[in-house]
Amino acid sequence: MSVADQIIVPLDVPTEEAAIALLDRLPEIRFWKVGLELFVATGPTILKHLKDRQKKIFLDLKFHDIPNTVAGACRSASEYGIDLMTLHATAGKNALKAATEAIAHSPSPPQLLAITLLTSLNARDLAFDLKIPLELPEYALQMALLAKDSGINGAVCSPQEVAPLRRVCGQDFVLVCPGVRPTWAQTGDQKRVMTPKKALEAGADYLVIGRPITMADDPVMAWKRIIDEVES
Ligand code: C5P
Repeated sequence: MSVADQIIVPLDVPTEEAAIALLDRLPEIRFWKVGLELFVATGPTILKHLKDRQKKIFLDLKFHDIPNTVAGACRSASEYGIDLMTLHATAGKNALKAATEAIAHSPSPPQLLAITLLTSLNARDLAFDLKIPLELPEYALQMALLAKDSGINGAVCSPQEVAPLRRVCGQDFVLVCPGVRPTWAQTGDQKRVMTPKKALEAGADYLVIGRPITMADDPVMAWKRIIDEVES
């Protein structure tokens, strides 16, 4: 897989018009992520635009519900012909298994990725608010293993966790990392960042890189610079 196929850019915009403008501005991008904001605004229309342009699609809706509901949502989403989609590991083993079974007979099933722990939560939130007694990297690892044992294809994790997850979950487990920043880009609200080259070397299969590309003065140049830096 070439580096250009490993970089997923989020369509983090509120309307169909803004999404189309971004697609028009960055024709080089092959893999786009559609999250809750845009999907709630446009519904599957945005997926059709992406399919019409032969793009790969990461549908990041982070399902979290009872097994029957998660299974139904995954079955419906799999009919869009998407490539990757997310659900929370904390929905539990029955929901994770139900999700994998629900899409097993889809003509083009997406790969299912588990959210281990939202990176917006820190060690303090885990211990004091969620009352989870495990330390942070260990908790993410346990959630990834729960997902793997339930038949889920991979996980979303911070680049800081990618090396231990790769070691424990094996080569076939798909690891997708947001929180990636080239040295020349602003970190913004991402707190624990790593460069694209280092995150791929640490074991990530895919990187989600948004604002360093989409908010750059010249987004096409920013994209090319990232590819060059990884390949150098
Ligand atoms: O602009 P930036 O590169 O920070 O975008 C990262 C993308 O990845 C955003 O769409 C964000 O919602 C998403 N994401 C994240 N951290 C997670 C899961 C998803 O930053 N743990």
